[in-house]
Amino acid sequence: MLVLGIETSCDETAAALVLDGRHILSNVVASQVEAHRRYGGIVPEIASRQHLLQVLPVVREALERAGIGLDRVEAVAVTRGPGLAGSLMVGVNVAKAMAFALGVPLCGVNHLEGHIYAAWLDARDPEEEPGFPLLCLVASGGHTDLILMEGHGVYRLLGRTRDDAAGEAFDKAARLLGLGYPGGPAIQQVAQGVEPQESLPRAWMRGTLDFSFSGLKTALLHQVQGAPTASGPRHAPSHDRVRSLAAAFQESVVEVLVAKTLEAAAHVRARGVVLVGGVAANAMLRQQMQASHRGLPVLIPPPPLCTDNAAMIAACAFFRLRRGERDSWDLDVTPALRLG
Ligand code: KG4
Ligand code: ZN
Repeated sequence: MLVLGIETSCDETAAALVLDGRHILSNVVASQVEAHRRYGGIVPEIASRQHLLQVLPVVREALERAGIGLDRVEAVAVTRGPGLAGSLMVGVNVAKAMAFALGVPLCGVNHLEGHIYAAWLDARDPEEEPGFPLLCLVASGGHTDLILMEGHGVYRLLGRTRDDAAGEAFDKAARLLGLGYPGGPAIQQVAQGVEPQESLPRAWMRGTLDFSFSGLKTALLHQVQGAPTASGPRHAPSHDRVRSLAAAFQESVVEVLVAKTLEAAAHVRARGVVLVGGVAANAMLRQQMQASHRGLPVLIPPPPLCTDNAAMIAACAFFRLRRGERDSWDLDVTPALRLG
């Protein structure tokens, strides 16, 4: 089944064509980073305007790159939440119009479930596909969720962040360090190969599978500000100190994510671990998870499939459609949608 996926939940306008939930024929992502950069973060109003401008050209490009006409599309999938309401609305309305005009099923997808299905994309043979029960860490700009996937479409939320999401923490830390937006890639870049001179705190949230990253952010703020000097204003940290603090920050987030994910996997006797969401693009996290899994299969999609894309939305929709699920024409956006 050939599914056209559309994703407009946040600051990427994306469209993809995916065959049978696994094989990517095209995967186009138009980033809005430049439109938001001068504001140091995502401005919702600008995001929805950008989606309006980009969505049709992006869909057209996905069809062109796949060398496929609209008449071959067998279903249209779209992110229905969670995300920015105005942004989600652009994708959902375009998807509805296309599915209606083509006379094919419409499938609204939970963005978090979509992230998980990145793990099914481009598996070379079914043997490489994840087995259940599967422990999934979805770490993105808005979520840090430990989710147990017991089968296709069956989820149980085991733990989540009590305050900032991991990606949000990276973005805020980058801002404190003067590294700009988006923060995750910026921190990874300056921290590369740096042995941190200090250690920042880890919030273990013992006895739970929850996370907390706001204390780490405050600790970093104190380090950046330093002790006030008697002779006047504080000095901005040197470049070497910024690199060291970025490395210490990254180390702290990665250590907690890896340890708690493996703790959860052992707790539920998972048959495998999946790491997805934008933060799963982080090289140190990928490396540490692969190094510490103690024999458990660990699946981490390539970085471009960890960050927001529409191929994961099309993949997820395939498995829903295969179960006979589809949405009606009154499908609406759900900005605070949860999974499990
Ligand atoms: O999944 P995603 O693309 O969008 C959301 O659904 O939120 O995740 C975006 C988040 C941002 O906070 C970004 O800073 C973070 O993922 N991110 C990274 C890296 N690449 C993206 N964090 C750490 N290291 C990276 N290499
Ligand atoms: Zn996402």
